[in-house]
Amino acid sequence: MTNNTKQIIDITKVQNSKINEVDFSSIDFGNIFTDHMFECDFIDGKWQQPKIKPYQALTLDPSARVFHYGQAVFEGMKAYKDDTDGVWLFRPEENYKRINKSSARLAIPEFPEDYFFEGLTTLLDLDREWIKKGVGNSLYIRPFVIATEPAIAALPAKQYKFMIICSPAKSYYSGEVRVLIAEKYSRAANGGVGFAKAAGNYAAQFYPTNLANNDGYQQIIWTDANTHEYLEEAGTMNIFFRVNDTLLTAPTNDRILDGVTRKSVIQLAKDYNIDLEVRPVSVKEIKTAAQNGELKEIFGAGTAAVINPILGFGHGNSKYELPKIEDSFASLFKEKLMAIQYNNAEDKHGWRYKI
Ligand code: COI
Repeated sequence: MTNNTKQIIDITKVQNSKINEVDFSSIDFGNIFTDHMFECDFIDGKWQQPKIKPYQALTLDPSARVFHYGQAVFEGMKAYKDDTDGVWLFRPEENYKRINKSSARLAIPEFPEDYFFEGLTTLLDLDREWIKKGVGNSLYIRPFVIATEPAIAALPAKQYKFMIICSPAKSYYSGEVRVLIAEKYSRAANGGVGFAKAAGNYAAQFYPTNLANNDGYQQIIWTDANTHEYLEEAGTMNIFFRVNDTLLTAPTNDRILDGVTRKSVIQLAKDYNIDLEVRPVSVKEIKTAAQNGELKEIFGAGTAAVINPILGFGHGNSKYELPKIEDSFASLFKEKLMAIQYNNAEDKHGWRYKI
């Protein structure tokens, strides 16, 4: 859906920036927010005048449907600053398409493309001081939509709020990551909302992830809900396995998020002539490969996490540690990806988007 008349965003700037209160050398993921936020309401069947205003709390009616039925979707994107203060996004059209795909699945009206890009670029331009130079620094961008209609019948809302908030970021996982392969709980089922960035997909992972944390794992690798025999994704990341010199990852389906970093890694693997198999990956083959010494690497790929090496995994009572290797695929992909994101390398696929 697109609105034909391009409305100018109504902008209210902060009087005093809070940037000087922030210690950029030590920031945890997602706790600090920039000076401004973007907001657009859906009322009377259409998206209203978009606004940018000082970052502030919302006032919502307690009966707002998002609180009762979780009608909410979100995206994760990042902005990067190059050495000459240029600000870049990475494949933002993929996030735009995906938020509308997620919205459609949750019966939320699609957001117009011109509002999305105008909102994003104006907001980033206003808050560009919050994007720090240096590889590893970025601004995490969180577009999201919530159902705001004050009414608790279990029906899709008639009113929504689309927002974009931004948070300076370094790495998502700061320590070592070991994962537990799911045997009992599931993240998603056929015909469900696993492919969408629905808020509830994440809430449903918290309890089993807490149990896994208690056993020394930082994350769960979700398996197919029917048999728990095939490895799907890690919830905050898509997942890749390297068996000898072959890179394996599951194909996307209606249970797996179609990650932007995932598809970029697949493209980079092709560019660097790495043997790649996008096919169902079984728990059995990965355990056998680990036992035979053929499993060289596991890594996760996601916007927040970038490329995150996984040092070991557990399944039932068995625990496996991966060997430390030189020249890992994880470091190759991380380096190549970040070089493109920070405008330090040729962008032959046209992935960068200048603000
Ligand atoms: C992202 O990588 O942007 C994600 O959505 C993960 C998030 C839950 C932090």
